[in-house]
Amino acid sequence: MKLTKNALIVGASRGIGLAIVEELLKRNWNVVGTVRSDNKTKLHDLADKGNPNLVIKNVDITIPSQIDRLKSDLAGSTFNVLFVNAGVANEKGMDETIGEISTEEFIRVMVTNTLAPMRVLERLKDYVTTGGVLGAMSSGQGSIADNENGGNDVYRASKAALNMVMRSFATRHGKDHALLLLAPGWIKTDMGGKNAKFSLDDVIGNLVDTITSQEGRTGLRFLDRFGNPVRW
Ligand SMILES: NC(=O)c1ccc[n+]([C@@H]2O[C@H](COP(=O)([O-])OP(=O)(O)OC[C@H]3O[C@@H](n4cnc5c(N)ncnc54)[C@H](OP(=O)(O)O)[C@@H]3O)[C@@H](O)[C@H]2O)c1
Repeated sequence: MKLTKNALIVGASRGIGLAIVEELLKRNWNVVGTVRSDNKTKLHDLADKGNPNLVIKNVDITIPSQIDRLKSDLAGSTFNVLFVNAGVANEKGMDETIGEISTEEFIRVMVTNTLAPMRVLERLKDYVTTGGVLGAMSSGQGSIADNENGGNDVYRASKAALNMVMRSFATRHGKDHALLLLAPGWIKTDMGGKNAKFSLDDVIGNLVDTITSQEGRTGLRFLDRFGNPVRW
């Protein structure tokens, strides 16, 4: 008999996070999906369809006390996958350079995309099974080696910094867990915009395959949604 697997997907109110939850539910996983606030989201709409395998929790990952509350709410749980999808782009978008961005906005993007996901992984890692997946959503734009055209200075920096701290985390926890930094591709979401190359339907099967297939493969990988390595 095939055992049911458990996933915790952080940042699942909409976009890629919501699509990951939907896909895992289709594959008969038990899923805890998180949203940032008490407002009704598309994840609540999904829950309203009556799926017994979906549980919704609240966490704003930039608020440490809320991560601690999530941790105590989930005490006793074990997950095969903990994946932090949540992330933001700077409000003024792609063309805003490092010379133009306000200090406050720089801090918001860096805290949300670098510090906060790592705090979640650090604080909740013990709920993940040995060999289970601890992952965060990075981006191809986080590759220093592939940055030949510039643009999106601060967003790129936040994902490159995420990659760097994950490499440090890997020296401490890479023997026990499969650590994943995922570059999903340019996808039509609120963040990706209408001109993005791919729809969520185009990518979600490959993307979820890549997340779930890491289980049992210890060490850190920076992969695209097909499971191919991305240059650091
Ligand atoms: N779309 C792309 O082309 C693309 C490409 C490469 C990487 N990515 C990465 O993929 C991830 C998802 O992107 P997306 O395109 O789906 O973006 P999106 O539609 O803007 O969704 C972002 C998600 O992150 C959540 N979030 C943001 N700040 C949060 C916080 N402080 N605490 C908790 N949740 C928070 C949002 O919650 P709310 O609804 O509460 O705001 C939402 O669920 C991000 O990490 C992004 O950087 C996207």
